[in-house]
Amino acid sequence: MNLNTAMRSVRYITARVPWHVKIGAKLVLSRLPVDYGFWRRVGLFRLGDMDHPEYAFAVVEKHFSRAAGAREHEGGVVLEIGPGDSICSAMIAYAFGATASYLVDTGQFAREDGKTYKRMAAYLSGQGCAVPRLAEPITMEGVLASCNAKYLTGGLASLRALPKESVDFVWSHHVLEHIRRGEFVDVMREVRRILRPEGVCSHTVDLKDNLCDALNNLRFSERIWESPVMARSGFYTNRLRYSEMIDIFSRAGFVADVLEVKRWDALPTPREKLSDEFRRFSDEDLRVCEFDVLLRRSKDARTGGS
Ligand SMILES: C[S@@+](CC[C@H](N)C(=O)[O-])C[C@H]1O[C@@H](n2cnc3c(N)ncnc32)[C@H](O)[C@@H]1O
Repeated sequence: MNLNTAMRSVRYITARVPWHVKIGAKLVLSRLPVDYGFWRRVGLFRLGDMDHPEYAFAVVEKHFSRAAGAREHEGGVVLEIGPGDSICSAMIAYAFGATASYLVDTGQFAREDGKTYKRMAAYLSGQGCAVPRLAEPITMEGVLASCNAKYLTGGLASLRALPKESVDFVWSHHVLEHIRRGEFVDVMREVRRILRPEGVCSHTVDLKDNLCDALNNLRFSERIWESPVMARSGFYTNRLRYSEMIDIFSRAGFVADVLEVKRWDALPTPREKLSDEFRRFSDEDLRVCEFDVLLRRSKDARTGGS
């Protein structure tokens, strides 16, 4: 069996495994002394799809066009929170006219092989976009240099190191829900600090559990869910609900313009199965499975605690 067939089989099987078996398996597997690159190759743990040119292009184009009203971002400095499996965003940002970009993650998860970036360059060329000049052999450092980009892997600490009011546009895709709960407010405040006064942020937030696209993650008490063992097992989400995130955006000094809210027709996990702390939320709030929001700086930043 070749690697592709093995990956397809793993994906087919994992799609059919019940949530509690997935949690058990991931808790065990994530303790094995195997690096993230291996799990990505066999398809058991992945941080998204940014190593696929089509996906990466569609994601970055969506956020850029929402923020600027057009593909081109008029030579601004841009920042992506959580680029995941590649630094392709830097190439796409370059193609859309950004003069510099920062990609901020919590670890070095992006592919380092030249093939990924060669494919991205070919895709950009096929779309009639500007392509950064990549010198052979293609290395990650070379790609970053060609796009005037920096890949920063210290999460919140990396944001703290960036200068005040230095970024025009910030975006994230399926990331905000993965920021550790205890850091969420601080990340938002840092983004507010580094954003220029006229800057804008575009976020797509996925509130489904990372198990079976339901709300099984809300079955657990905070003490268990936020324990280091759970948080490092590849399915962690901070479980902040839609109303809570909107409230935090405002307290961090943003005005939120919600562009789209998707809801399940009915709760995908029975209310009586949820941990006590989630039963206080309305059905309407709990049924939100994804939303898109633009954030702009409010004039007076209120900076209350979490
Ligand atoms: C589900 S992946 C999404 C990756 C990519 N945006 C995509 O659409 O494929 C979530 C990403 O957010 C990153 N992340 C989690 N917490 C973060 C933080 N505090 N700062 C920056 N990135 C973070 C993870 O490491 C991971 O790369």
